[in-house]
Amino acid sequence: MAIQHLRILLAVAALSAAGLSCTVHAEGLQADVHGLVVPETVKAEDRGSSLYLQKCASCHDHPQNNVPPRASLAYRSPEAIQYALAEGAMKPMAAGLTAEDIEALTVLLSGRKPRPLPDPMSAACKTPAAPLVLAEQDWSNNGGSHTNTRFRDYGWLTAESAPRLRLAWSFGYPGGAGGPAVLGGDRVFLPAGFGFVLSLDAETGCVRWAFRRPGRIVRSLAISGPTGEQPRTALFFGDDLASVTALDAATGEQLWHVRVEDNVLSRITGSPSVYEGKVLVPISSIEDPMTHVGSHACCSSRGGVVALDAATGKILWKRHHITEPLRDLPAVGADAPPRRGPAGAATYVPLAIDARRGLVYASTAEEYGTLDAAGPYSVIAYDIDTGERRWAQQFLPKGAERDAACAAFSETDCRNLFSMGTAPLIHTFPDGRQLLLAGQKWGYVYAMDPDDGGRVLWRSKVANGGDMGGVIYGLASDGERIYVPVSDVDAKAPGRAGSLLALDPATGKTLWRREGPVPQCSWTQEGCTAAQIAALSAVPGAVFGGFNDGWLRAFSTRDGAPLFAFDTARDYETVNGIPARGGQVSGYPVVIGRDALFVTSGASSVERPGNALLVFKAGQR
Ligand code: HEC
Repeated sequence: MAIQHLRILLAVAALSAAGLSCTVHAEGLQADVHGLVVPETVKAEDRGSSLYLQKCASCHDHPQNNVPPRASLAYRSPEAIQYALAEGAMKPMAAGLTAEDIEALTVLLSGRKPRPLPDPMSAACKTPAAPLVLAEQDWSNNGGSHTNTRFRDYGWLTAESAPRLRLAWSFGYPGGAGGPAVLGGDRVFLPAGFGFVLSLDAETGCVRWAFRRPGRIVRSLAISGPTGEQPRTALFFGDDLASVTALDAATGEQLWHVRVEDNVLSRITGSPSVYEGKVLVPISSIEDPMTHVGSHACCSSRGGVVALDAATGKILWKRHHITEPLRDLPAVGADAPPRRGPAGAATYVPLAIDARRGLVYASTAEEYGTLDAAGPYSVIAYDIDTGERRWAQQFLPKGAERDAACAAFSETDCRNLFSMGTAPLIHTFPDGRQLLLAGQKWGYVYAMDPDDGGRVLWRSKVANGGDMGGVIYGLASDGERIYVPVSDVDAKAPGRAGSLLALDPATGKTLWRREGPVPQCSWTQEGCTAAQIAALSAVPGAVFGGFNDGWLRAFSTRDGAPLFAFDTARDYETVNGIPARGGQVSGYPVVIGRDALFVTSGASSVERPGNALLVFKAGQR
């Protein structure tokens, strides 16, 4: 099959966010697949194999981007596979299968039978909780705060103490790590597998409560004290059916649950932001892989932002990033379904809240088609109160520049490449001036003037770029420098994935650059890379990165010298008795607390997922 016919999908977006991505190859393969007949009397293994060939092989034997290759599914727990098929992301792919079919597939892929639903309350706290009181600095969502600077100065963690970090305890997420922790007062909150959301004691890891939304995938959380008319400290999250839920953060009791999009392909993966009585939620989609499914009437889902009343869940306003009306497009062949568009522009990263200007900023990903609509590949500013669009900056190159970029990435359809990969970051200079920054999968970081309609002040090419970044998930700023994680997962030797840069916020000039580490995957030698498919987190003098080889690493903010490294991809005995396994350190993995570092290993990872929450403290000198 000619490579140019491969349409490549959404990249990492998908991992955390935008969901399914699969390149369904040429006609021949589908014909094979559909030509299979499953005999009634085959053994379970054979039955699993036949079903796999019929229903799964077209994607998992030809993986692209975030489609986990078949071999990697063996690393997943049988429970996670069963859950994915019965209730989760693969439910549409498993349509029509019986429980026995699902078990046969699970056994085939993982080598064993799934266990029953875990009881997350088996490690319940024995003592009653103190009242839950949040602190101003609590790491409240995946960006760490409204501005996504991902920086904390609590005093205990610095360049000097970082080398003395020791694992204090670990916790096994039941059913896999859905996403990273958020912190509130003396509690930790986690999105886990099987639709669980948990609250733990931050000191001991005992479980305060567990909430379950069966059949949903929860990837991120946000916590807020009383806000607007909402009198309680509450936890907010979206799920893979584009619903938003509010829980009482102290008890886990549901306050409200609201579906914000009708399109079945819409989903929420980025964490909400809570501000003055409003819950602002980024809307993403899983339609990108469907663009490769011949029978799908592509495409209709659109990313956007929805603002909900924190007290009631009432939708106050909702805006899609693409405003052009959806229209019918000519079908591409005689038997092909009708097409629609324009669609896309998912937001799978956190929003940024600009309290000074009353704006909320969204980074947007690719268009699901080639109409060159306005909205995708952009940073867009909306009025927090009304939802009115104040400005939009699109970062899709034009003409010769685009042709050259696409020629350099001949293996992709060259659309996802230009997706805005990171959450917008609001950087404040010592004199109070501000800058808005965002990274792109293409390998650029852009600085915009928030007082001048997002006018581009500088752009800096920091990475080769690719569907998995380039620059993805999140930058960090300590007020002095901007830190940039580089993925470049496909870097060819002698180039190396996973470099790290410090940029001068005033000019965009590189202050230092550290080449990617020599990758060390404990689970494989083949295809091991140390790409950073993860946001950075910073403290005074040190910046922490998550790496695809399973390592957590910290570097000096002065010159990038290594300060600390820990291989998370191993097995752990945990405080809650659910065994934990570390994996790739992806997404938004490093959360800085007032006396501990909370690191999630194995969330948002393609090849080596895990379920470990690792809690580090600084050892004695
Ligand atoms: C149209 C392409 C496609 C088909 C067909 C498909 N998958 Fe997937 N599968 C994906 C993608 C993409 C992901 C990653 C989903 C994500 O990260 O949200 C995935 C993820 C998974 C996962 C991991 C889910 C998780 O998040 O833990 C399992 C297990 C899985 N698939 C099994 C199967 C099985 C078994 C079949 C056949 C019944 C199947 N898939 C059919 C594309 C496909």
